Amino acid sequence: MEWKRLPLCFALFAGLAFGTTTHGEAADIAISCGAVGQELELCRTGAEAWAKTTGNTVKVVSSPNSATERLALYQQLLAGGASDIDVFQLDVVWPGILASHFIDLKPYSKGQEAEHFKSIIDNNTVDGKLIAMPLFTDAGVLYYRKDLLDKHGIKVPETWEDMTKAAETVQKAERDAGNSSLWGFVFQGRAYEGLTVNALEWIDSFGGGTIVDAEGAITVNNPKAQAAMALTQQWVKRIAPEGVLNYAEEEARGVFQSGNAVFMRNWPYAWALANGQDSPVRGKVGVTALPRGGDGGKHSGVLGGWNLAVSRYSKHQKEAADLAMFLTGREEQKRRAVIASYNPTMPALYEDAEVLKANPFFKTLYSTFTNAVARPSRVTGQNYNRVSYAFWGAVHEVLSGQSEASPALARLESELKRMSRRGW
Ligand code: GLC
Repeated sequence: MEWKRLPLCFALFAGLAFGTTTHGEAADIAISCGAVGQELELCRTGAEAWAKTTGNTVKVVSSPNSATERLALYQQLLAGGASDIDVFQLDVVWPGILASHFIDLKPYSKGQEAEHFKSIIDNNTVDGKLIAMPLFTDAGVLYYRKDLLDKHGIKVPETWEDMTKAAETVQKAERDAGNSSLWGFVFQGRAYEGLTVNALEWIDSFGGGTIVDAEGAITVNNPKAQAAMALTQQWVKRIAPEGVLNYAEEEARGVFQSGNAVFMRNWPYAWALANGQDSPVRGKVGVTALPRGGDGGKHSGVLGGWNLAVSRYSKHQKEAADLAMFLTGREEQKRRAVIASYNPTMPALYEDAEVLKANPFFKTLYSTFTNAVARPSRVTGQNYNRVSYAFWGAVHEVLSGQSEASPALARLESELKRMSRRGW
């Protein structure tokens, strides 16, 4: 039997050693894509177009919707040096955690990085290596039911306090009129990365900072953050269903899109779906910047987004990099923006007539996208996921009524201090 294994071993070794297939041979590439909204379908059609023009084959592997579960899966695969997946889709907050597993894409990018927002390229550059190319960017926005606000003579809310009142008023009036399943507000309240994003938006909008500041100081326990949390603690069961404590993006969209919520916090991808042919709220939806935290506060949308990286354990690095460059290129970014409202990472596409026709808010909310608030992933590096885990845990306790805001933030502060005792 042994002799039979030899050629295979040799092939594997040669593949690993050279990191690419012999010139002229077609490669079989596996790409792991997100599956939130229309992501997976777009990844598949894009990857198939690439396969057709290059003569390679490609397998699209779906991954969990929750960014937290996806990170755990990727960490497991990469720690084992698995070569099953060539191209990984990385969250904007992961470069500091996962960078060592990916190749430098500079030799393959042919300067294409100059077309993208510089801040994203900088974020994807770790120790001088360009470990990922930007696929799409994200920032939190507020969706609202235009028809319901008009019907009840209510203005689009400017502050979170206004939003709370508006949600309560419309919910009550509609329920009194027999619309018993209507809720005021849905968001991402599950204990996972999405809650970190939502709560950072609340806190930063009140001027309460970004958990850990750019110098690494822990700032989360402050009166403004407490004020933000004290307000949001009133939401569950009053204007949001109790189930919101287990909602990620798609659960929130499900409720809003079926017509059962007045307001929703979500990412831009929900726009195309809410206005889809079969959507019960088609044409009834408005989108605006997330509210300010009180009169002295500001509009804060947290920066999200995804990038493509090539595994250093891939046996077809050259082809994998070619696929990553294709999918992050201009044509594909435009296609995804027009069909499914995924925000391009190239400033030029925000001036493209077809992109803007499909998504008028890409223009009106341009500064929301370009000035989005970053999570403290750069400064906390390898520790980011632990910081985020501690943060969303504390916030979840407050939202679910297990703790008041002040003691929860004080405990969180001590935990983060212990974590960073020897620096981040
Ligand atoms: C979106 C964002 C991503 C974020 C995630 C949290 O997918 O693009 O950056 O981490 O939501 O749920």
